[in-house]
Amino acid sequence: MNLLLLGSGGREHALAWKIAQSKKVDNLFIAPGNAGTLTVGTNVDLKADDFDGIKDFVLRNAVDMVVVGPEDPLVKGIYDYFKSDARLKGIPVIGPSKQGAVLEGSKDFAKGFMQRHGIPTAAYRTFDGTTLDEGLRFLETLKAPYVLKADGLCAGKGVLILNSLEEARHELREMLGGMFGTASSQVVIEEFLSGIECSVFVLTDGMHYKILPEAKDYKRIGEGDTGLNTGGMGSVSPVPFATKAWMQKVEDRIIRPTVEGLAQEGIDYKGFIFFGLINVAGEPMVIEYNVRMGDPETESVMLRLKSDLVELFEGVAAGTLDKCSLEVDERSAVCVMLVSGGYPGSYQKGYPITGIDQVEGSIVFHAGTEMKDGRVLTAGGRVIAVSSYGSDKDEALQKSFSEANKIAFEGKYFRSDIGFDL
Ligand code: AMP
Ligand code: GLY
Repeated sequence: MNLLLLGSGGREHALAWKIAQSKKVDNLFIAPGNAGTLTVGTNVDLKADDFDGIKDFVLRNAVDMVVVGPEDPLVKGIYDYFKSDARLKGIPVIGPSKQGAVLEGSKDFAKGFMQRHGIPTAAYRTFDGTTLDEGLRFLETLKAPYVLKADGLCAGKGVLILNSLEEARHELREMLGGMFGTASSQVVIEEFLSGIECSVFVLTDGMHYKILPEAKDYKRIGEGDTGLNTGGMGSVSPVPFATKAWMQKVEDRIIRPTVEGLAQEGIDYKGFIFFGLINVAGEPMVIEYNVRMGDPETESVMLRLKSDLVELFEGVAAGTLDKCSLEVDERSAVCVMLVSGGYPGSYQKGYPITGIDQVEGSIVFHAGTEMKDGRVLTAGGRVIAVSSYGSDKDEALQKSFSEANKIAFEGKYFRSDIGFDL
C-alpha cells in the first residue's frame, strides 16, 4: 500500500522508520518530513495542515492510508475533512475526529470529560473574562503552588505553576487578558499534584485498544530537571514504577473509562491516545490527554514495538484491533536529544551536522534538520535524537551518550543525566 505520514519532527522520523519496516508498505511519503525521513521514504513538500494540498497529493498518488503525527491537523479536523469528501472518505486517517481532538485542544473539555467518566485527575474550575473576580477568589481558597492552564493549544507553553498567591492572581489576569491570545480566553485552575510523571500510549479503533510501551520524558533544559521547559530532552522506556499492578490500575481506572467514554459520547476516535499521568502516592492520575504520540517518547517507544505497526493501523481502520497482537521487546530503549545552543530560547539554524555516519549500534532520528545542497543542516531547536537499546536503561543510556558525542554541530547541547530520577 501507499502510506502518507504527516509531520516533520523526531516523532515522525521514528514513526516513519517503523512504518518502513512493514511488509505491507510499498511507498511511504512524509509531508513535509525532514533530512531523516528522506532515508526511509519520500518527502513531500506540503504542510501538515494544507488539507487541499494533501487531498490533491493523496488522489494523484493513490495513497491508501494517512497517518497523522502532530496534533495541529487533528484539531483542525483532517479526519472529518476526509470523511466528508466523496473521493477521500474510503481512505483511512489514523487520528481522531475533530471532536475527539478536543481532548487535547481544550483543557476544560478534557477535565469535564474526566469528571463525567470518573477518571482520576486534579480538582479544577474554569474561568473566563466574565468570571475573573470569581477566579481570583477561587485562588484564595487553594494552597501554593497554583496551577493555571490556558484552555487551548499553546505549543506546550500554556501551563503556569506559581509559588505565590500574588503571582497567581497576576498571571490569571494576564492570561484572561490575552497572554496566549484566544487560547487563554478560558483558564483552568487546578489542584497541584505531587509525584513522578509517566506517559502511557494507547492505539484505539474506538471500541478496542492496545497499550503500547510506556515511557518517561524529560522536559526541562537543564540537568536535574532545572531551567526552562522544552519540547523534550530525552526519554526512557520502560518506566520502573509502571509495574504490572500500577499499569492495571491505569487500564481499569483511566484507559478503559476513556475509550468507553468516547464511544458513549458518540465521539469518533481511531488513533493514538497519549495519557500524561502522574503517580501520586502509588495512584495514577491524569495530568493531560494528547491525541497523538509523544515526542521524544516515540523515539524510544518505537524501538520496543515488535509488531507490524501498519497491521495495527489496519486494525484501527477496520475496527478489528482486538484481532491484532501487540508484541513488545523486553529490552530497554532510550533517546537522548541533541539541541541547538540557546534553545529553548533563541538559537541559530543552518549549521552543518557531521558525524551521523560514525554512529554505530544506535539509531539516529532527525528532528529539526534539513537537507540542503547535499548537506544536513540544523533547522530547529531540537535537532537529533540518538536512540539505543540496552539490557537495562543504564546500558542503553551509556550507549546513547557515547554515540551522541560522535555527532557535531555548532552549539550542540544534550542532557547527560536522562533517567537520573528512575
Ligand atoms: P500539561 O501541558 O497539562 O501537560 O502540563 C505541563 C506540565 O505541567 C506537566 O507535564 C506537569 O509537569 C505540570 N503540571 C500540569 N498540571 C499539573 C498539576 N495539576 N500538578 C502538578 N503539575 C502539573
Ligand atoms: N513529550 C510530551 C509531548 O509530546 O507532549
